Parts: sequence; C-alpha cells; structure tokens
Amino acid sequence: MRQNIIDICYLIAAVGFVLALRGLSSPKGARLGNIIGATGMAVAIGATFAVDGLTNFGVIVGAIAVGVAIGVPAARMVKMTAIPQMVAIFNGVGGAAAALVSISEFSREAGAHPATYQVVEVLAGVLIGSVSFSGSVVAFAKLQEIMTGRPLTYPGQQAVNAALGVVILALVGAGLGTDSTIAVIALLALSLVLGVAFVLPIGGADVPVLISLLNSFTGIAVAATGFVLRSTVLIVAGTLVGASGTLLTRMMSKAMGRSITNILFGAFGSVITASGSMEGATGGSVKAGTVEDIGVLLAYSRKVAIVPGYGLAVAQAQHVARELADELAKHGVEVFYAIHPVAGRMPGHMNVLLAEANVPYEQLKEMDQANPELPTADVALVVGANDVVNPAARNSPGSPIYGMPILNVDEASNVVFLKRSMRPGFAGIDNELLYDPKTTMLFGDAKDSLTKLVAAVAAT
Ligand code: TAP
Repeated sequence: MRQNIIDICYLIAAVGFVLALRGLSSPKGARLGNIIGATGMAVAIGATFAVDGLTNFGVIVGAIAVGVAIGVPAARMVKMTAIPQMVAIFNGVGGAAAALVSISEFSREAGAHPATYQVVEVLAGVLIGSVSFSGSVVAFAKLQEIMTGRPLTYPGQQAVNAALGVVILALVGAGLGTDSTIAVIALLALSLVLGVAFVLPIGGADVPVLISLLNSFTGIAVAATGFVLRSTVLIVAGTLVGASGTLLTRMMSKAMGRSITNILFGAFGSVITASGSMEGATGGSVKAGTVEDIGVLLAYSRKVAIVPGYGLAVAQAQHVARELADELAKHGVEVFYAIHPVAGRMPGHMNVLLAEANVPYEQLKEMDQANPELPTADVALVVGANDVVNPAARNSPGSPIYGMPILNVDEASNVVFLKRSMRPGFAGIDNELLYDPKTTMLFGDAKDSLTKLVAAVAAT
C-alpha cells in the first residue's frame, strides 16, 4: 500500500516534469512551467523520504539544508547576464552527484558479483557524470573569466584526447571484467581529465551551446544512476533532461547556422578583430543620426519593430525599451518586438529580459512571425543586436555566419542601430547593413540612447 502511494507520487512528479517542459517552451507558460516542475520535484523528494529502509535522515536533511542555503541566494542574486555560468555550475554538481552515487552503489555491491548490466549502469553514471562535472567547471571558469575564454589548443591535442578515450575504454573493459573498485576510481579520475580536455579547445563565446550539451550528459548520467538505484523517477527525470538538452543543443546550433561539430571543434567566435572606428572593414561610411531626428522618425511611423540583441542585455535596457514602446503607443504607433532564437548569449535570453520588463506577450514575435511583418515596418529599431540581423548570413557564401537564419530588418523602410561603436558582435565580422543608405546609427549605450529617445518621442 505504502509503496503504491510512493509510486503514484513518482508518477505525479514525472507528469509534472513533462508539463514543466511544455510550459517552459513559451514565454507565456514559462513561469507556470517552472512552478509545476519545482512542485513535481518537491513531491518526488517527499515521497523518497517514505521509501522503506531509508536511514541517515539527519545527513539527508543536512545536505538538503546546505543545498538550499547555497542554491536559493545564488539563484536570487545572479545577474541575468551571468545565468549561463550559474546553469553550468548547477549542471556540474548534478553530474558529480550522479557519478558519486554510482560509485557508492558499486562499492556497496562489490564482492556480490553484480550482473554485467548493473556494472554497465554504474560505469555509464561514473563516466558521463564525471565528464559533465569537470567540463562544466571549466565552462563556468571561462564564462566567469577566471580563465581565458580563448580556445586552448596545442599541437597533437586531438591525438592526446583520442589516447585518453582509448585508456578510458580499456578501464571500462577492466571494470566490466573484474568489477574492481580500483578500476572504477581510475575511470572517475580519467573521466574528469577527459571533461577538461573536451572543453579547453572551445571558445568562450560557444560555451552556452556546450553547456546545453553537458546538461544533456548530466541527464543521461542521472538516468544511468536511476537504473543503478532502480528509481523510476530518476530514470524519467534524467531521460527528460538528456532528451531536452540534446534538442536544445541542436536547435541552438541550427539557429546559429553551424553544425555541432563545428561548435565543439571549430574554435569559432573567439577572436574579435574589430577596429572600433567609424569606418569599418568594408571601407564604407555610415550615417550617424541625432536623438531628435530619430525621435521624430519613430513618432511619425505607423509600425515600429524593436529588435533586441546582446547589447540590450549588457545595457540592461529592457525596461526603458518598454517605456519607449509605451510612448510610441500613445502616439498611435504599432510596436512589436522581433525575437531571434539566438539573440543574446543564452536560449530565451531576450524573452526573459522582456518578460522581466512586463512587455505584453502579444507584442513578442518569434523570427518566423516577425520576418513576414518586417517589410511592412516603417522602422526597425535594432537595440544592441548585430549578427542576428547581418545580411551576410543570406548574401555572402564565404561568411562564417552564411546560412544562419536572420531577422530581415533590411526589408523595413528604415533601420536604426543603437550601439556604442562600429565593433562587430559575437561572430567578429563586419555588418554591411550598418553602411546601408537606409540605416541611421545612434551611437551610445543602449539604455542611455533609449532614455533620450523616450523624451524625444514624448516631446514630438
Ligand atoms: P551580437 O552579434 O553579439 O552583437 C551585440 C552588439 O551589441 C555588439 O555589436 C555591440 O556593439 C552591442 N553592444 C554591446 N554592449 C552594448 C551596450 N551597452 N549598448 C549598446 N550596444 C551594445 O549580438 P546578437 O545580434 O544578439 O547575436 C547573438 C550572437 O551570439 C549570435 O552570433 C549568436 O550565434 C551568438 N550566440 C548566441 C547564443 C544564444 S543561445 N543566444 C549562444 C552562443 C552564441 P558595440 O560594442 O559597438 O556597442
């Protein structure tokens, strides 16, 4: 009877996780999705306390208290731009936990000659969980700028990594044949080294995609641990994380117009070569506008598309962007926000920022909805975005971003860029649209420029 109730709780938790993922797939449902997922997890943890034969309550409650004391303030205080590194470190400890649980189960069973499939589950948990842990720690260090964000490479690196892989496979074989704890501990140590070796050659700017991939590794490690512990809820939760992490990695690389192999081994976007001068690599000249002129242009438009990018996040300009939209609405201007799937530096970056500023969901248009509307916009106001509107992705076969789907802001009647200089964005390449005769530049910090534009529109 008691076991039945526990199983029902686990089922409720699993359904909660699936509904959470569904909610998280749109800005409108994200908050509720998060609450449902957290509630599902609370139900699963509560039910686990009722499992027969559970001992060491004090240690478990103590560990939960330490986790809460670290996790809650960290999540509350983290700046929006630092969320990728927070996700990296949380993901890493998930991988470490999976590896450690697998090891402890293995040593408990050692001598009892566990079946081969049980040893495989343990080895998978140790290998994948450790790679995820050490890889995530290096990813964190790169994003936090504790170490250089440049790809770290050396001659013969691929051969060394391949040799490491072979030794690890040999250890897996040894672990299978002898079920020796020493082989498993050696596997743990070398897997940690492999995680570091895997992440070192990846440029800091590609790390968000890597984190999504490591996230899926952690999910798989947790699922393996679920098999070790015979825990259905861990298997379900781990598989969901593994599958969603893999899908997210694919979606991110597709939206960046690059293959996963290129991201992992291509050392891309690591070196910004901008001159920062008013004249860019194309040698063209640019038209710089005044706040007053642009204010008039916006106020007398029928339709304005606001296109946010990484610079909006850096400037924390989301609230004032909304103020400008409200001011324009007072002038009878129709405003929508055109959101590119990889604008910013993490999935959903723009959605999160704009939701924080209470931008109405109806005004948010994903790329597929926004592109057909852009030719009807009088002004595309590009706020700290660059690569996601760069026509080179459509027109220049040699460009590193060629093939990446972009927001076609060049099809609007006028384009206004709010950025501080002529420096390029993440991909480190020039943007010909900055030199287009229909483009006006308003140089300065995005928040500052938007604040001035609000006043200029209000005065019109
Ligand atoms: P970027 O192409 O990186 O351009 C951002 C622009 O913002 C820069 O040109 C910069 O120019 C400007 N900027 C920075 N700080 C500013 C400030 N305080 N005020 C005004 N402007 C400021 O950004 P994007 O268009 O959003 O494209 C995102 C890029 O990141 C894509 O290449 C994408 O592939 C990549 N990426 C995305 C993700 C995800 S999941 N979103 C993950 C990894 C990589 P100035 O310096 O001249 O101001």
